Amino acid sequence: MSVLDTIGLSLMRMFDAETAHGLAITALKTGLANASPTRADPSLEVEAFGLTFPNPVGLAAGFDKDAEVPDAILRLGFGFAEVGTVTPLAQPGNPTPRMFRLTADRAVINRLGFNNQGHAAALARLRARPKTGIVGVNIGANKDSSDKIADYELGVSAFADLASYLTVNVSSPNTPGLRGLQDRGALEELLGRVLAARAEASAQPPVLLKIAPDLDDEALADIAQVVLGAGIDGVIVSNTTISRPALKSPERHEQGGLSGAPLFELSTQILAKFYLATEGRIPLIGVGGVDCGSAAWEKLRAGASLVQIYSGMVYEGPRLARMIGQHLSQQLERSGFDTLSDITGTGAKEWAEA
Ligand SMILES: Cc1cc2nc3c(=O)[nH]c(=O)nc-3n(C[C@H](O)[C@H](O)[C@H](O)COP(=O)(O)O)c2cc1C
Repeated sequence: MSVLDTIGLSLMRMFDAETAHGLAITALKTGLANASPTRADPSLEVEAFGLTFPNPVGLAAGFDKDAEVPDAILRLGFGFAEVGTVTPLAQPGNPTPRMFRLTADRAVINRLGFNNQGHAAALARLRARPKTGIVGVNIGANKDSSDKIADYELGVSAFADLASYLTVNVSSPNTPGLRGLQDRGALEELLGRVLAARAEASAQPPVLLKIAPDLDDEALADIAQVVLGAGIDGVIVSNTTISRPALKSPERHEQGGLSGAPLFELSTQILAKFYLATEGRIPLIGVGGVDCGSAAWEKLRAGASLVQIYSGMVYEGPRLARMIGQHLSQQLERSGFDTLSDITGTGAKEWAEA
């Protein structure tokens, strides 16, 4: 167990959520939270978007916004890390406080608003790192940008030759107008221009789209059609929700996107619906409320090829990726299936109707 594990979690709770997050990044940077490598279990390997993932558990975007610690993340046992969201220009985000732990609900609300150091800073760090392990780059648009799609094009050309994959994030609730890019016409234009930028870039990594959980059946069907028509490589379901299921914590009235345990059901149902709408023809990453192995297993059953976590780490600490991996290995053995891909979508109908 790492130092961060033993003293970390209770100590972290003494700080507000954003300060605790900063301390976690520092601990990872300094090696304080680094775990010793364990042997990879080959049965957990997943092939998706032309990449071979050593295991299906990834770190979701927003934790390492400026690509400061992707390799330390991978050493914690994650099969992949997604850095960002990065925008072309550095921007401060919204006024603080803007990130809240809802401890009684095992949830987080954030309205950070894409605070990040901009493309140049992330680029310099990614250039300096060893080119091993799967590190995706999540790209977005500056708050004040007059042509938001142009910001995504810039992201594609900037990171194409350094990113294992690129995520087009149109689903953060904290940048005004961003989620409108999920509307059919806007999405067609966005994906068309993004894929054209990729074709002209120096390398052609897979391009994924990250969607919100706050979409009705009609909007999901539209996105499914556009995504299949455009020929992008995968979809991440989902970002945080602006809805508020029943919550106990006093911070429940804070504005922003809700993540963690209360997002699990909604995001898994949307995942299953999207899997059915795309007939399993495009790999999906399931995100939202995964905080244990059985939650990750359910994401696979609902239609995910891979999963990502963020809020679960806030409550379970950095050992979570390993714990989930171990559970998936045991569960796979018990299931009688050979690979995790055999599990993908086997419970989609059940989840879609839940
Ligand atoms: C503090 C915080 C910041 C986030 N920032 C981003 C971001 O910059 N880009 C993004 O695509 N998602 C961001 N997310 C969303 C997560 O990547 C993830 O989709 C969501 O939190 C649901 O997963 P979880 O329940 O495991 O946290 C953020 C989430 C949190 C809690």
